[in-house]
Amino acid sequence: MPRQIGNVVLEVEDLHTHIFSRFGVVKAVDGVSFNLRQGEVLGIVGESGSGKSITALSLLKLLPRPAARIVSGSVRLEGEELVTKSEEEMRHIRGRRISMILQDPQTSLNPVFTVGNQLIEGIRIQHPGDDKPSLIRRAVDALKQVRVAAPDRRVSDYPHQISGGMKQRVVGAISISCEPKIIIADEPTTSLDVTIQAQYLRLLRELQEETNLALIFITHDFGIVAKMCDRVMVMYAGRAVESGPVRDIFNNPSHPYTQALLRSVPSMDDDIDRLYSISGQPPALWDLPPGCRFAARCEHADDRCRRDYPPQVSISNDHTASCWRLESA
Ligand SMILES: Nc1ncnc2c1ncn2[C@@H]1O[C@H](COP(=O)(O)OP(=O)(O)OP(=O)(O)O)[C@@H](O)[C@H]1O
Ligand SMILES: [Mg+2]
Repeated sequence: MPRQIGNVVLEVEDLHTHIFSRFGVVKAVDGVSFNLRQGEVLGIVGESGSGKSITALSLLKLLPRPAARIVSGSVRLEGEELVTKSEEEMRHIRGRRISMILQDPQTSLNPVFTVGNQLIEGIRIQHPGDDKPSLIRRAVDALKQVRVAAPDRRVSDYPHQISGGMKQRVVGAISISCEPKIIIADEPTTSLDVTIQAQYLRLLRELQEETNLALIFITHDFGIVAKMCDRVMVMYAGRAVESGPVRDIFNNPSHPYTQALLRSVPSMDDDIDRLYSISGQPPALWDLPPGCRFAARCEHADDRCRRDYPPQVSISNDHTASCWRLESA
């Protein structure tokens, strides 16, 4: 089914989120910009510690407090600035207009409430006039929508009575129950086995297509990006180093870091000991070099790369990368 890509729902512009730690200022997000359209799936990829989760948490202003703070930049949801909103105002946005599926499904459900009651919390916001039986009916429908078997029985189960895969589906059902514009899914599959993971990813994709909401999908895995996403933003050390349509990035990866990440995706005919991994470590985010942050690990790096941060170069329509080699090409 072809998806309907609509208007821009989210505009992030030059976002800087810093964490004030005992090492100094950790520049976890250091000048990130991107747009998201209705009906679009945007992947954010990058190694551990590149700032993917802090970017996502910044959009909802759910940052670890008091250490982390958005220090500058703009996040506009349907034209409305979120950075300057109060905690009280953000509470009306979280879950209702932007919803988040957390890294670990096991901890996203409250063990002392039934699945139905946790669903009803969200549904009540959209349907404040409904009585209890009608809310329960809607909760059962929400479980049906995420393909939970025997939903009328499951609705009165407690989280410990259902399997891990089913918990993940319930978390999915909760996040769409108040009909948000945007869902952010941060590595939702790490604690599931591969079969359940594949089923869950398919489900997320189907739900996204049915509801035509925008999805931000955060992962380490380029293989998952290929299956799930329309566009991708590659993050390295707090910045986006390359972004564009998934097909363009796969056909013409332009930043050496993206190229290295793609070489490390195992393909069907690779045997496991030929798996490529990128040697070296990303720079410390509290002591960043002045030039390109990938320079120390890049086989092409020269003095200019180490001295000056590279400009963002347009590769093709909507595909950009920040690398000195592209500018002189
Ligand atoms: N609560 C915190 N206190 C201090 N530093 C933090 C905190 N949370 C994250 N950081 C630091 O911020 C940087 C970005 O972290 P973030 O969690 O966004 O990475 P990530 O890309 O999501 O990694 P992963 O793939 O492992 O989830 C990292 O250097 C991390 O150590
Ligand atoms: Mg993370």
